[in-house]
Amino acid sequence: MSSDIAIGIHDLSFATTEYVLPHTALAAHNGTEIGKYHIGIGQHSMSVPAADEDIVTLGAAAAAPLIAAHGSDRIRTVVFATESSIDQAKAAGVYVHSLLQLPSACRVVELKQACYGATAALQFALGLVRRDPAQQVLVIASDVSKYELDSPGEATQGAAAVAMLVGLDPHLLRIEEPSGLFTADVMDFWRPNYRDAALVDGQESISAYLQAVEGSFKDYTEQGGRPLEEFAAFCYHQPFTKMAYKAHRHLLNYCGADTDTDTIERAIGLTTAYNTTIGNSYTASVYLGLAALLDQADDLSGQPLAFLSYGSGSVAEFFAATVVPGYREHLRTAQHRDAIDRRTPVDYAAYRTLHQRAFPTDGGHYPTPEQTSGPFRLAALNGHKRIYEAR
Ligand code: CAA
Repeated sequence: MSSDIAIGIHDLSFATTEYVLPHTALAAHNGTEIGKYHIGIGQHSMSVPAADEDIVTLGAAAAAPLIAAHGSDRIRTVVFATESSIDQAKAAGVYVHSLLQLPSACRVVELKQACYGATAALQFALGLVRRDPAQQVLVIASDVSKYELDSPGEATQGAAAVAMLVGLDPHLLRIEEPSGLFTADVMDFWRPNYRDAALVDGQESISAYLQAVEGSFKDYTEQGGRPLEEFAAFCYHQPFTKMAYKAHRHLLNYCGADTDTDTIERAIGLTTAYNTTIGNSYTASVYLGLAALLDQADDLSGQPLAFLSYGSGSVAEFFAATVVPGYREHLRTAQHRDAIDRRTPVDYAAYRTLHQRAFPTDGGHYPTPEQTSGPFRLAALNGHKRIYEAR
């Protein structure tokens, strides 16, 4: 559990979209009793990208404050994790590298395994820093979650990006060994290359997630991990916040532990505050849970936290981290709250128009309407090339 050198998350920042759709508007459109959304799945609103926002603009907006605070001299790797990729060949991180004017002596790659990708990126970053402790790795998790209009998945959309600077002697979290791992070939959620919106078997996806919780924790225990009762809190991947409650109850049952409501609320309640209003942000979701926990909890210095990262398909990892004493001086709580509060509510019709928006594929010049007030925008598609602007 303890390692000879401390490596982990030095700084963390997130960004979300220009617009937000309250679930009351979706419920009024489709005649759903609002309790199903507010209580049944635990969602109150979902972030909706403007026409000139995408995973690149969100990722750059999340990472910019980290570069402003720490510079980029030590960053030799950028890993961009996403499952809503914008190109089959070019890594989205290369656009971010350009928008943030990062050093040319840098490797940039994109990683994919559904919502799990950011955890793979974080674990790979730890390995790179261990090999060369002088360097830092910029991990960006950025996703736009999109399901078919009028489908059950529609209520579980959202969008956000989390950026994490990974390095030696981190200010926020020391990531521990071991990790518990789990992979199973299941078709619970997937998106073929020719589709814009994901396909999902909702109930199968919930079962697959629970199976992965069990499998990854079993391996974590076999690898010599901490007993469950040592953890101060649990950060779960949250496709909708109720899923974290289902997952934690399942884990407690699996371990033969008490499953009373107060125990579960204490373990995960604070982690859901951002996800309930942002919605599913796929790769970023588990780290939004972490941000919400750190931003709201009483002092967690020295306490172990558990993480369960799940990506449909499926791959999961259960791992632990210790909160670094003094971490509260390095949080971005005000920035995070502002990212949520600054969103403009849209009505159902405006959301539907944005959802249906797609660029023509004929190679013409298609400027986007100027909608985002964020620091970066997707200005146009021209000759099949995405044109980004920094403000
Ligand atoms: N008041 C309170 N609760 C109510 C209610 C009301 N009026 N009406 C219904 N509910 C409850 C139901 O009892 C149910 O609760 P339980 O699951 O605890 O029984 C809950 O609301 C949802 O109801 P349904 O199961 O009937 O809802 P649904 O069939 O419309 O679908 C869903 C829900 C499967 C989550 C669907 O939104 C979906 O497919 N979402 C996308 C897939 C997804 O998020 N899967 C999660 C695991 S996969 C993963 O984690 C990876 C990823 O990011 C995609």
